[in-house]
Amino acid sequence: YGDASQKIDYVFKVVLIGDSAVGKSQILARFARNEFSLDSKATIGVEFQTRTLVIDHKSVKAQIWDTAGQERFNVMMLDMRLFMVIHVKVDLDSRLCQAVMGDVSSVLMLWLEKRYRAVTSAYYRGAVGAMLVYDITKRQTFDHIPRWLEELRSHADKNIVIILIGNKSDLEDQRAVPTEDVNEFAQKEGLFFLETSALQATNVESAFMTVLTEIF
Ligand code: GTP
Ligand code: MG
Repeated sequence: YGDASQKIDYVFKVVLIGDSAVGKSQILARFARNEFSLDSKATIGVEFQTRTLVIDHKSVKAQIWDTAGQERFNVMMLDMRLFMVIHVKVDLDSRLCQAVMGDVSSVLMLWLEKRYRAVTSAYYRGAVGAMLVYDITKRQTFDHIPRWLEELRSHADKNIVIILIGNKSDLEDQRAVPTEDVNEFAQKEGLFFLETSALQATNVESAFMTVLTEIF
């Protein structure tokens, strides 16, 4: 799992995206440290981990970025309200506050939208690979994939290598997304596709290798 003394030939930035609780952080923990935790906390902000591998006799440092799957815009709205409660000491339930909020909200929304775009662009900047994760036991997380693809296509480099990942394959008895449906979808969209289990360490290595070798 990585050798610090190695000389690095390439650094590849890969981003993890997908709805909240699909297992992005655990996939990363499995890949970077061979760890897994069942009571993993929702990610706040952006984190990244690296692992150096040898591909075709070259050492490749994979820098994997992980962020919260919750809609970033909503998170920023919450941050904003929290900021106001703590720093401006407003009482969000008071009628006065609601009136003031109403007045500033259009200005605030514009500012937030600008911030949101800046944060989103920063996350995708320089990324050469993307892992788009859904949970095979939660249909909704797969139904949201087109939205994530849209975000990718509007913010990331157009040559980015994308792999679609159906995580939690260990929960076969709770499966809500048939593999065949996704195969068809992935083919149509020109995406790689694998089902993984961060828990059982199934296909996690293959998923990363697929992306990294394709970038290479
Ligand atoms: P956000 O940070 O909120 O975007 O969520 P996330 O996508 O990073 O999810 P996270 O990795 O925190 O995992 C969410 C929950 O699913 C945790 O309870 C994990 O233990 C569990 N989980 C993750 N991967 C697997 C898996 O392969 N199998 C099973 N059974 N559970 C998993
Ligand atoms: Mg997370």
